[in-house]
Amino acid sequence: MKIKFDADLIKRYDKSGPRYTSYPTAVSFTPEFKEANYRQHAEVSNKNADPLSLYFHIPFCDTICFYCACNKIATKDYSKSPVYLDYLYREMDMQASLFDKSRVVEQLHWGGGTPTFLKHDEITALMEYTRKTFNLLDDDSGDYSIEIDPRSVSKATIKLLREVGFNRFSLGVQDVDDRVQKAVNRIQPINETQAIIDACRENDAHSVSIDLIYGLPLQTVDGFAKTLEKAIEMNPDRMSVFNYAHMPKLFKPQRRINAEQLPSASEKLEILHNSIDTLTSAGYEYIGMDHFAKPDDELTIAQVHGSLHRNFQGYTTHSDCDLVAMGVSSISSVHNCYSQNAKDLEGYYAAIDAGKIPIIRGLEMTEDDVLRRTIIQQLSCQFELDFKVIEKEYNILFSDYFAFELEELKAMQADGLLSVSANDIKVSPSGRMLIRNICMVFDEHLRQQTTVQSFSKVI
Ligand SMILES: C[S@@+](CC[C@H](N)C(=O)[O-])C[C@H]1O[C@@H](n2cnc3c(N)ncnc32)[C@H](O)[C@@H]1O
Ligand code: SF4
Repeated sequence: MKIKFDADLIKRYDKSGPRYTSYPTAVSFTPEFKEANYRQHAEVSNKNADPLSLYFHIPFCDTICFYCACNKIATKDYSKSPVYLDYLYREMDMQASLFDKSRVVEQLHWGGGTPTFLKHDEITALMEYTRKTFNLLDDDSGDYSIEIDPRSVSKATIKLLREVGFNRFSLGVQDVDDRVQKAVNRIQPINETQAIIDACRENDAHSVSIDLIYGLPLQTVDGFAKTLEKAIEMNPDRMSVFNYAHMPKLFKPQRRINAEQLPSASEKLEILHNSIDTLTSAGYEYIGMDHFAKPDDELTIAQVHGSLHRNFQGYTTHSDCDLVAMGVSSISSVHNCYSQNAKDLEGYYAAIDAGKIPIIRGLEMTEDDVLRRTIIQQLSCQFELDFKVIEKEYNILFSDYFAFELEELKAMQADGLLSVSANDIKVSPSGRMLIRNICMVFDEHLRQQTTVQSFSKVI
């Protein structure tokens, strides 16, 4: 997708907003949503019999990166993981009993924390148990991915992960500069990262992805240019360049970051500008919201064909899967509901001991939620929206139903973010960087909320 960097526009539209890995976002989930609600939606989902996407959350990390905003547990006590896995198996049994065994698992993802905190025999056991419990593909045709901290694996780990069925690998890198690494408590020599990427290639990985973060302490425009250069040399299929959101009130480890060392807003903007220029010149396509991929990558191809989607793991080619998420804090999306598991181990373990799926909150979508979800998905994945398609699918008159939103979009049209005709919305190359802001116009829940402080800013 073509993208144009417009610093003035970005500055003007730099406000907090969701990243729309779900709509409605987790802020709207309520504790009134219970296991019984989830069971009902699972039952309906069996009638549709869509394929499944499984997510497993492995929360442990043996050291903590100061910037981290993920749901994780810091520990060097490796005896915690067998206990956790035992509970995960019990949750898996409960979840699997809700879904027809014939439903194929097209997508599977281990996220964290650090999934590679698990020892080799634990990795094998978890995957074996999953295969026994759900209908996994065994011909390497599924999208089976894992987040890897290169500091926690060896070449042998990659070989094992490939053998048990993973074919997509996502590596945390963030920045290669020694000073930045020290400031965020993540020492990761580049040759070690390179060795792991080589191992992924040697083992025939379908895709390798690298995470970078801009806006970290001691980062400079030149310094991050070197990180990008090194990242491009490593030749990943996909790259994510996340914006560091400094929210120390919300994320405790961030209190250990010296705020005076953070790059200024204008430096961050320049780093972002450079990143986009460098990655697109190196042949990467901009997919949207921090993500880049090579032209022959499945994500890019799906975007060209209009079949790209977005879920809790980011962009995906699997639209019709029900997402069954297991493990502490994980969020499922089944039929027309979202449900989140207990966020702390005590709560998670206690619910399972009581024989319950450890759901603490969730949301049943209204018809309006489903409609708006489709619109937000379509805009954030394809950057355009055909009114006729929506009208046909949802039996509405777009100009009537969204009269208020179309009025709001006028200012964005005047600013050149998009064009609105009688038939469609088309996001311009400079509007693509501000797609969150455009989606926010269609977010009815956000309009009802008095504060958006729990969301990060664009810059
Ligand atoms: C669960 S971690 C990846 C796996 C593994 N734990 C690791 O760090 O290598 C997910 C990714 O989220 C990103 N991330 C974490 N905290 C962030 C923050 N505060 N702002 C932006 N990105 C962040 C990092 O790029 C990180 O690689
Ligand atoms: S970035 Fe990864 S390794 Fe670092 S604390 Fe967060 S989850 Fe753990």
